Amino acid sequence: MDRHRSLRMTLLLAVGAAGCSSSKGRDIAVVELPPAAPADDAAPSSEEPDASAPARRAGWITDPDGSVHRATASRCDATNDQPSCRGTEKLQLCKADADCKEGPHGKCVTAVGQVGTYCGCEYSCETDADCGASSACVCKGTGALRETHSVCAQARCMTDVDCPESTCGLSAYHNGCGEQVMLACRTADDTCRSDADCGRQGDTGLACAALDVDGGYVRWQCLGRTCAIGRPLMVEGAPRAAPAAARDDWRAPAPLDAASLAFLAPDLRELAAAHYAAMAALEHASIASFARFSLQLLALGAPADLVGEAHRSALDEMEHARLAYGIASRLAGRSIGPGPLLEAAAAPLAAGVAEVVDALVEEGCVGEALGAAEARELARIAADPALAAALARIAADEERHAAFAWRALAWLLATFGEPARAAADRAFSRAAARFEIDPAPVPAAHEPLGLLPAHAIGALRREVLAEVVAPCRAALLDASHDTARPGAPPAQQGRPS
Ligand SMILES: [Fe+2]
Ligand SMILES: [Fe+2]
Repeated sequence: MDRHRSLRMTLLLAVGAAGCSSSKGRDIAVVELPPAAPADDAAPSSEEPDASAPARRAGWITDPDGSVHRATASRCDATNDQPSCRGTEKLQLCKADADCKEGPHGKCVTAVGQVGTYCGCEYSCETDADCGASSACVCKGTGALRETHSVCAQARCMTDVDCPESTCGLSAYHNGCGEQVMLACRTADDTCRSDADCGRQGDTGLACAALDVDGGYVRWQCLGRTCAIGRPLMVEGAPRAAPAAARDDWRAPAPLDAASLAFLAPDLRELAAAHYAAMAALEHASIASFARFSLQLLALGAPADLVGEAHRSALDEMEHARLAYGIASRLAGRSIGPGPLLEAAAAPLAAGVAEVVDALVEEGCVGEALGAAEARELARIAADPALAAALARIAADEERHAAFAWRALAWLLATFGEPARAAADRAFSRAAARFEIDPAPVPAAHEPLGLLPAHAIGALRREVLAEVVAPCRAALLDASHDTARPGAPPAQQGRPS
């Protein structure tokens, strides 16, 4: 069954290529990377104060390319720099460190989540003995680790001696929503060795990380942001969103069935509320993303209909945010809305053609196409009619936004020629590589509430990449290649044809 035919036809129509056929079965595009550098299995040396030599820090060795491996087990600092619970937080899962008894070095910390401020337990470690089987204590401040404390990480190797032909590398990968930490041997099949291998041509937001690719086999590859769908507000390679706040003015009525809600376990209901609050925050950030895009279109001399569509899309995103905050509030039993989106004022307004094309492809042409398909699938499985209706509304709008993105890209290619086409080609390859992997696991999968497991979202995304994005990309870029004019006008002089 060709379940993405409608979305594909919508996007092909947007680029004026509705007669093109599906490329179902065609391989999806992937980032082409140079072969992985041979593993550095030379004995570390601290004798030479040479900038090209590895740096050693309590058992952890940082190679000149920035990659980190574990030579020996070491003792870590077990303190946690996150502030302690103040007692004024909205949700208090703990009140004092003594409440954190599930492991050693527990601390009751204050934090801000999508459902507001809360207190929760975090557990640090000093040695591997503080962690469970097949886990290692990764010291805070090591490599790219962002956590404010040392963390127990899944360990496919404990130290370099477990990797006779390579090293035991530290993978600390932030997918945009959370951090995944792992120790794994480097292998000959790796497609990258350090983040620098993933950032050719000024790309940002990709990291070289270990990924369990099949049945426990781990390979290092370039990974990108995977947790946001729709049109994110990207700043410095990561999606940004406002923290949650207690307010009523951003919530639309959400008449979810009271009897069904009453049967939900309280923790599942709270997790579902957090999921929809996070989704609402991303929709809220999409308003800023479209605002930025409208300014970029103006700077590039875009036609009126594209500028107008950007503003209409921003208003759609306002409604999506209101719908999702309404659902989150209903599930949580309290009012949830957005706090200040500080990054809205800090988001860089890049108006060069290549930068605009780059963001448009990832956020719009690919991101919104995936978002449309995902929202449609969630609307199909949601049990509550009001929830299904809200998701169906979002799906229809996202499909229109995706079509708008493809139409805007067609205009950019027709107006600016080869530089725009080359930027689009690179951006499609990068976006395909980012989204073809499963997102981070969701805390609770519950299809009647529209919470899909990560593997199902990953499979859906791969389908859309292959059956929708790839044929539309081919139709648009092949056509633009045929008509591309060398020496396209500079951005300031470009006008729609
Ligand atoms: Fe949206
Ligand atoms: Fe959208």
